[in-house]
Amino acid sequence: MSDQQVKVVFTPSGRRGSFPVNTPLLHAARVLGVDIDSVCGGRGLCGRCQVVCADGAFPKHQIESDSSHLSPVCATEIKYAERKAPLANGRRLSCHTLLLDDVVIDVPAESQVHRQIVRKDAEYRDIHLDAATRLYYVQVEEPDMHVPKGDLQRLLDVLEQDWQLSGLTIDVALLKTLQPALREAKRGITVAVYKGSSIVALWPGFRDKAYGVAVDVGSTTVAAHLCDLSSGEVLASASLMNPQIRFGEDLMSRVSYVMMHPEGAEEMTTVIREALNSLFAQVAKDINVGIEAILEIALVANPIMHHILLGIDPIELGGAPFALTTDAAVDVPAAQIGLAINPGGRVYVLPCIAGHVGADTAGMILSEEPQEQDQMTLLVDVGTNAEIVLGNRQRLLACSSPTGPAFEGAQISCGQRAATGAIERVRINPETLEPRFKLIGSALWSDEQGFADSISDFGVTGICGSGIIEVVAEMYLSSIITVDGVVDGELISRTPRIQQNDRTWSYCLYRSERDGQSDIVITQNDIRQIQLAKAALYAGVKLLMDHMGVDSVERIRLAGAFGSHINVQHAMVLGLIPDCALEQVSSAGNAAGTGARIALLNQQSRQVIESLVKNIERIETAMEPKFQDYFVDAMAFPNKTDPFPHLFSTISRPPEKTIVDSGSRKRRRR
Ligand code: FES
Repeated sequence: MSDQQVKVVFTPSGRRGSFPVNTPLLHAARVLGVDIDSVCGGRGLCGRCQVVCADGAFPKHQIESDSSHLSPVCATEIKYAERKAPLANGRRLSCHTLLLDDVVIDVPAESQVHRQIVRKDAEYRDIHLDAATRLYYVQVEEPDMHVPKGDLQRLLDVLEQDWQLSGLTIDVALLKTLQPALREAKRGITVAVYKGSSIVALWPGFRDKAYGVAVDVGSTTVAAHLCDLSSGEVLASASLMNPQIRFGEDLMSRVSYVMMHPEGAEEMTTVIREALNSLFAQVAKDINVGIEAILEIALVANPIMHHILLGIDPIELGGAPFALTTDAAVDVPAAQIGLAINPGGRVYVLPCIAGHVGADTAGMILSEEPQEQDQMTLLVDVGTNAEIVLGNRQRLLACSSPTGPAFEGAQISCGQRAATGAIERVRINPETLEPRFKLIGSALWSDEQGFADSISDFGVTGICGSGIIEVVAEMYLSSIITVDGVVDGELISRTPRIQQNDRTWSYCLYRSERDGQSDIVITQNDIRQIQLAKAALYAGVKLLMDHMGVDSVERIRLAGAFGSHINVQHAMVLGLIPDCALEQVSSAGNAAGTGARIALLNQQSRQVIESLVKNIERIETAMEPKFQDYFVDAMAFPNKTDPFPHLFSTISRPPEKTIVDSGSRKRRRR
């Protein structure tokens, strides 16, 4: 390098400095603290360090920048382009480009280590990329009889020298692979380092791809998303039904199974671990890599799934005081809990919040960040248990409420899971009481031309959660049911869709004309099941509002598959959620799963959620004397005592009248 100094400014960081002519750009960036990625340590192998010279005059910096102010494209760059991919649009490998004169250098987002992953759809929020596991390529020096040290020490020395990684530990099981790897690749190896402190994997030669999987273990469904740890991209996704369903449909029945069968917990642990391992194998196969390429897992689950997966007996969670074995985050080698990824791979399980408010709720909070909101925000994840969080940047409260599986179609006579053939949208004409509906699998409404042809392959098979919400809300709005949820049998004179079943009435939503398929009928018992579920949810919300000292919320986010599909107006008509301006109610998508992905891709987020959950106030609904009162009020549509002014400013409240039963008992009706 000569003594002549040249100026360099890096954008977008704006960092600048002066360096001797012939200084490598990557070196200048490192000195100035500019965030540029690298796996190969400047050997021209990984291509992560790409930059672009900005041509033109930059009066602000007093620089005339031009690509000729950099050294010409060198043999290493040509070799890289031939071996991997051509360097597009004037891009250069900063490790092999020298400063000759003043320049402004742009560092593209994909060359930054701590870059932002921009959301691609509503499901994904922006994530600041900072994975806990990183790859480093090193050339380990040859053994020398005159320098008595082991190959591990040589590896540790070069990692410290090239990458400033000191005090690294290594599992003894990995040691046996070190010398074979060094031999195989002429002492050039890639190591994976977890949290900058331990070597968890190593491979002969150069490798620049490491993968992680974000996992959401739900009581019904288990989903896995394989991500590239260096780009944050989701490369493959897979899901399956939780095989524990055979031990019980809902969480409490699975705990009961454990109580009655001493070996039950172990059986359930085995089946969920096997299911996860099959998902890992599947997502790895989808991108043509072996499972050893997966180095990390970040996982969310409700407390019972969490305990069972970790091999902890969940019995204490089956009754008050619902004591968790641990509410802390868990960070363990995957092998220790029977998960088959790279033998040195790690698992991070988000912290739990309370006996029924688990790591899935922590994931939802990580994704939704209510602690960053000024508005009083309500987060609801509706499943067989509803997890509820209320608060803003001042304070956060959380609880869960036992909604049961009605919203998932269970306990509903014609209910089914969301699948092709299920009714998912319903409208009822309040004059004629005639319905129209939409099915999963067809884009047409049932009264549109071509509907019958569009469903000819599958027919009408049942009604799923979102359809149930809509049909019950529409039955209330068209006065087929009273404010108390009673099907009005007097309407039999207006429509044959009202049918008598002993002492109660039902509404026929669809008459089947197909062999083997039944009519879709909404019975009085179906309405009751929905009332019980929605009253449990609303009572939980009211308790949190009480503890918060507010009588309204400003913003509602509905999480989970169910929350993504329900019509918010119908949910409010039902009294599933409290009154709020409709434009402030929206879907949060799979917020728990997104939270797992954030924890996977950003190690800082783990500390954020771990310290945040310590300050969340837990409300135990079962212990609250007012729960029962709120529950009873919430059995009515939308609610016996709460007025719902926002809702009824956009739609008309059904007319209130009194009807007389056969037993002369007066019943209020709206
Ligand atoms: Fe790897 Fe430049 S640092 S190619």
